[in-house]
Amino acid sequence: MTLVFGNAAQVATCEGADESAVLDGAAVAVEEGRIAAVGPEDELAARYPAAERIDCGGGVLTPGLVDSHTHAVFGRWRADEYALRSRGVPYMEIARRGGGINASVRDLRRRSEDELVALARERLHPLLELGTTTVEVKSGYGLTVEDELKMLRVIRRLDEEGPLDLVPTFLGAHEVPPEYTGRADAYVDLVIEEMIPRVAAERLARFCDVFMEPGVFDGRQARRILEAGREHGLTPKLHADELEPSGGAELAAELGAASADHLGAISDAGIEALAGSDTVATLLPGTLFFLGRKEYAPARALLDAGATVALATDFNPGSSASPSLPLVMTIACSQMGMSPGEALRAATAGGARALRLTDGRGTIREGAPADLVVWDARDHREIPYRYGVRLARAVWKGGRRVA
Ligand code: NIG
Ligand code: FE
Repeated sequence: MTLVFGNAAQVATCEGADESAVLDGAAVAVEEGRIAAVGPEDELAARYPAAERIDCGGGVLTPGLVDSHTHAVFGRWRADEYALRSRGVPYMEIARRGGGINASVRDLRRRSEDELVALARERLHPLLELGTTTVEVKSGYGLTVEDELKMLRVIRRLDEEGPLDLVPTFLGAHEVPPEYTGRADAYVDLVIEEMIPRVAAERLARFCDVFMEPGVFDGRQARRILEAGREHGLTPKLHADELEPSGGAELAAELGAASADHLGAISDAGIEALAGSDTVATLLPGTLFFLGRKEYAPARALLDAGATVALATDFNPGSSASPSLPLVMTIACSQMGMSPGEALRAATAGGARALRLTDGRGTIREGAPADLVVWDARDHREIPYRYGVRLARAVWKGGRRVA
């Protein structure tokens, strides 16, 4: 069955050098789940006379959003910590008191794989409704061999179930678990010697990530883990320079990581290192917003230096509880000096680059998967501008309507 998406006010292809690359009055033809052609509507109508016409109703057509950084598999929410933070207790202080990531670890260890599948399924559905069609999901709330594998199996099952595509990342080094307090190096040994080989043997992850931050894992430990992952075929990613500068961006670039994520406190040397590399700068401003920080990552400096920028939600129960990429785009435009076109590109093609997806995902071009969103807007700039309402009117995944 061939489909032709017509009557779109704009088609934002997110291709080429030009911000979001907007075509006026264009149409998109879809065959067998892939984009077959992009061009003037009358031309495509003549070329595909038997096609079913999908009326975009004068809305904007974009690629499905690609959320390249989430922690969407977890047990309970942590609104109790949010209440503490609203009274001024810092995120890292809550972690030191036994909350934070380790609160989610204790909780997740008690839950079965089936239970986690059900919880994550329910939490991932809103992503689709908000326009996201591909999402990276990390492990990192298990922190034992079996519990990390359990999390990654949850991700695999939900990916197989569809319609969302889930890209799995192993984040065994998300935190030092309680039973290893004061023995971080021994835990790093466990990650390297037991977890990584099992994850790789069962092909449960594509990437290996580390939370490198003073008080969690340092540069030496991050390097050991990412190099071991790489030897097992897992491409490095890094939580880098989130709250304090510690050389994370530089390390990510040196190791050829797919992305360096957060970067709220990246140094000038870090900006230069990313600009001169293939490592994507993945910015998660929803997290800094939600944590009440006033300083955001230097998106302008990164873009002007020539780095590839991605925007992602960091969706997780602690530091950023929203799955909305359009909201993240709003924060990027209002607080970080990104243009709406740059934000859209960062949430589509940029996310795909951060996940090393080379099938054209995150763009509207011939051959790319037909992951498409029709927005209730006449201009793509309305997507971040009209924040707080759901503008994704129809979502298509591989040529099938899914929301
Ligand atoms: O990216 N930084 C580490 N991990 C998450 C937070 C996870 C949590 O608080 O549960 C983050 O912000
Ligand atoms: Fe994260």
